[in-house]
Amino acid sequence: MARVWITGASSGIGRALALEYAKQGFDLIVSARNESALESLKQACAPAEVAVIPLDLSSPESIAAAATQALALGPIDILINNGGISQRSKAEETGLELDRRIMEINYFGQIQVTKAVLPSMLERGQGIIAVTTSLTGKWGFYLRSAYAASKHALHGFFDSLRMEVEDRGIQITLITPGFIATEISVHALGSDGKPSGEMDNNQAQGLPVDECARRIIAGIAAGKREFGVGGRELMGLWLRRFAPALFARLLKKQSAR
Ligand SMILES: NC(=O)c1ccc[n+]([C@@H]2O[C@H](COP(=O)([O-])OP(=O)(O)OC[C@H]3O[C@@H](n4cnc5c(N)ncnc54)[C@H](OP(=O)(O)O)[C@@H]3O)[C@@H](O)[C@H]2O)c1
Repeated sequence: MARVWITGASSGIGRALALEYAKQGFDLIVSARNESALESLKQACAPAEVAVIPLDLSSPESIAAAATQALALGPIDILINNGGISQRSKAEETGLELDRRIMEINYFGQIQVTKAVLPSMLERGQGIIAVTTSLTGKWGFYLRSAYAASKHALHGFFDSLRMEVEDRGIQITLITPGFIATEISVHALGSDGKPSGEMDNNQAQGLPVDECARRIIAGIAAGKREFGVGGRELMGLWLRRFAPALFARLLKKQSAR
């Protein structure tokens, strides 16, 4: 059976992806920092084959160890780089240390995992690498300067990588969620580097996470290069292209939370 490695699987979108892939009969590797949440996810995925491999995306040593363990299990058919942390602080109040931390987790962490898995996929001439970016990877938004920068960086990296590997059997899929009903805003870091602890209205009213997971899995299976998942906020993708001035005016009126 095909094997999927999902990072950021301890909660939210990653957890929902794991549950849905398990239902579809895939073998799983689930990673994040919170090992007990991963163990309870493993129970919830039964009878699917699930390997729990804890991983801290801010630590190159942790990523290297996790990748060695994951690759030892056998071929990885689908890698979903989903783990990430958001931000709720103004740029002027955000210290460089926090900018770097967010970039380390959301960008360098993802590409290190990718670079660890890619050689084995290239050797086999097949594999799928997906990455959860964000609409904030397409345009900036209030209180998310470092987060938006890290997600934009993912687009640059993975669009370039796709050009280099798609003719060698590797699918690269960028997923740009809008507002999904998870606790991402609760976990998002404030200017003090601590979780904001607040549930945003945008997320509370967002797309249910199980529906989000089903759409992501369908988009990956359809071989899409990039696709949005969410509600009417996805209209921004078209509006920005065809009516950029109107888009900028409407975006400015949106609530930061
Ligand atoms: N929800 C939305 O509206 C939305 C919109 C656009 C994009 N996204 C993206 O979707 C992805 C999943 O977010 P979510 O909404 O599901 O939020 P979430 O519930 O907060 O999940 C984030 C996941 O990332 C993991 N993570 C955070 N820091 C980590 C670290 N240092 N090392 C390893 N894993 C880490 C968390 O696990 P641990 O804390 O256990 O490590 C958790 O499993 C993120 O990349 C996010 O940017 C979400």
